[in-house]
Amino acid sequence: MDLLQKRIDEIYQECLEYTDEGRVADYIPELSRVDKYQLGFYAVGAEFDEYYIGAYDVKFTIQSVAKVLIFICAILDNSTAKVLSKVTVEPTSSSFNSIVNLELENENRPLNPFINSGAIVCTSLLKGTTSEDRVQQIISLMKRMCDNQDITYNESVYLSEKKTGARNRSLAYYMSSTGVLEGDVEDILDAYFKICAIEVTCKDLAQISYVLAQDGYNENTGEQVFSKFLANRVRSVMALCGMYDGSGEFAVEVGLPSKSGVGGGIMSISTKHGGMGIGVFGPSLDKKGNSVAGVMFLKRLSQELSLSIF
Ligand code: DON
Repeated sequence: MDLLQKRIDEIYQECLEYTDEGRVADYIPELSRVDKYQLGFYAVGAEFDEYYIGAYDVKFTIQSVAKVLIFICAILDNSTAKVLSKVTVEPTSSSFNSIVNLELENENRPLNPFINSGAIVCTSLLKGTTSEDRVQQIISLMKRMCDNQDITYNESVYLSEKKTGARNRSLAYYMSSTGVLEGDVEDILDAYFKICAIEVTCKDLAQISYVLAQDGYNENTGEQVFSKFLANRVRSVMALCGMYDGSGEFAVEVGLPSKSGVGGGIMSISTKHGGMGIGVFGPSLDKKGNSVAGVMFLKRLSQELSLSIF
């Protein structure tokens, strides 16, 4: 057996016990039904071929990992300057759904596109007249980045979050009051909730992050999906802000541009060894909303293969 696959199997076995730590994201009722003991991994790369283990083909909702795609799409639909006039790219030490910085810092603009307020603003910049148009923009970008042409969103997770999304509504209405968020607030939130409920597998995330690792180029289709310049910017923001207020420790321990979601997914990019895209899934989360076993898996993998960009 391939040595790397053997090591990945061992890391998987070592990390399984960490699925017992943490909790699933029960603030979205539908997510509280997910089995917390799952762990999946998929990696695709130039020199590495494909490696996978565990729950690599289990579907889960993308949640905040989609914030990377919303950011890319908002820039493609507008311009970098327009997006950066609404949201900056500064890390935060507050939680992903924090409201406090909107009033105290940064002239009412969200600190970065990967916290809820920032992603809601970026969603408002997506082209489209209905929430469904905006969701389809994200889904079609995803289809250009991975093999899965059946991507869709999970209706019950979407409805569950829409029903209980008081915090996101607070953020959005606050930003509407300061003028940072323009447009129909409920419609923008509806698009945001649907986008968070898009279903993916570790394989989908690995392929999407591999396009980011390849500077926006999809090797399978031969398409330059977006520019090298944009890919570089997005990877930078992922490295600084992708794990919320856990981004600093993650940079030290793992050192890979990454983005997590409360569905338990993490999408990571390695630019070493010709580039690698990684998707992990472990729905049991730490207090900051990052997958406990997923982070542990990435830490071991990165340290063993010297993947850290730092
Ligand atoms: O808006 C929310 O709260 C969720 N739909 C997404 C948050 C999230 O994934 C944060 N992740 N770690």
